[in-house]
Amino acid sequence: MAKIHAAITGIAGYLPEDILDNEELSRMVDTTDEWIMTRIGIKTRHILRPAGKGTSDMGSEAVKQLLIKTNTAPEDVEVLICATVTPDHQFPATGNIISDKAGLKNAFSYDLNAGCSGFLFALSTGAKFIESGRYKKVIVVGADKMSSIVDYTDRATCPIFGDGAGAVMLEPTEDPEIGVIDEIMGTDGAGRIHLHQKAGGSVKPASHETVDAREHFIYQEGQAVFKVAVSKMADVSVEMMERHNISPEELAWLVPHQANMRIIEAVARRMELPKEKVMINIEKYGNTTAATLPLLLWEWEPQLKKGDKLILSTFGAGFTWGAIYLKWAYNS
Ligand code: UT7
Repeated sequence: MAKIHAAITGIAGYLPEDILDNEELSRMVDTTDEWIMTRIGIKTRHILRPAGKGTSDMGSEAVKQLLIKTNTAPEDVEVLICATVTPDHQFPATGNIISDKAGLKNAFSYDLNAGCSGFLFALSTGAKFIESGRYKKVIVVGADKMSSIVDYTDRATCPIFGDGAGAVMLEPTEDPEIGVIDEIMGTDGAGRIHLHQKAGGSVKPASHETVDAREHFIYQEGQAVFKVAVSKMADVSVEMMERHNISPEELAWLVPHQANMRIIEAVARRMELPKEKVMINIEKYGNTTAATLPLLLWEWEPQLKKGDKLILSTFGAGFTWGAIYLKWAYNS
């Protein structure tokens, strides 16, 4: 019997309506459009503003759209994995809430936290469910409301992040020319000192003091993270090319996490890829954490052709990093 692969058979995304541009940010903190464009490469980011709306609202919109696009009855979905660092609540899992809002009555669902590598790790996990032969329809969501943990008085982090969500459908295929082929992933918990949220977890539960000290926002030592991000993302991406003898000419697309334009360019340089083969939308959406990869695939879907070779590459809090090699499964 031929080996079962997991193929992405559909993709959808959701971006909230409100846009925060560099001009507005410059009125909030001491920054400029020129600094943000030169150092990060972001012009605008989408922000989920209505009070009482959370990550599940964006994730469930993406899932509803995915069900329509793939002509899937909600009750046929068996598993939903939600990658996020901004869950609606500490518990229950945001995946449970997304399943409820999207009407997935027969799916079991849960969350997975791997920082900005969340979608890639969840895609790997979802693919294993399919490869086991036991499940036929698995949805992987990447969704983050980063504006809920961004300190809009901290000019070093507030220009970077935006809100959004994306979702893919995974289904089995026996065609070796399509689907998820391979992965390389890693973590280093020692890296947590450079990028984390200080309070709100079991080590330091929320208190008046933690709120006063602004410890519920993202804490990031940018330069330390930058250096490791470039080397890890480039290392795993190049290793993946070598492992499968993929030349820069053969690779259709690099799908890199959107943290900083300079990181993306450095990774592409190490892979000897021209810019035309690199998916980039950081200028419009910023870093949407777990949503960056599915939002890229969603936006590029019309250009993707069956059999196209893609490398997805990420780095994030943890530290976490990884690359997935897949062959696109369909023509739009
Ligand atoms: O997705 C998860 C993983 N995260 C990442 O991959 C992020 C990695 N890090 C980065 O992308 C970059 O390090 C940042 C964008 C966060 C910062 O860029 P940088 O080029 O490393 O800047 P820096 O922190 O070294 O700061 C350089 C200067 C400093 O001023 P002085 O000390 O040289 O006078 C900062 O105070 O730029 C200043 N600065 C700003 N100036 C204007 C910092 N933020 C701003 C700002 N506007 N928004």
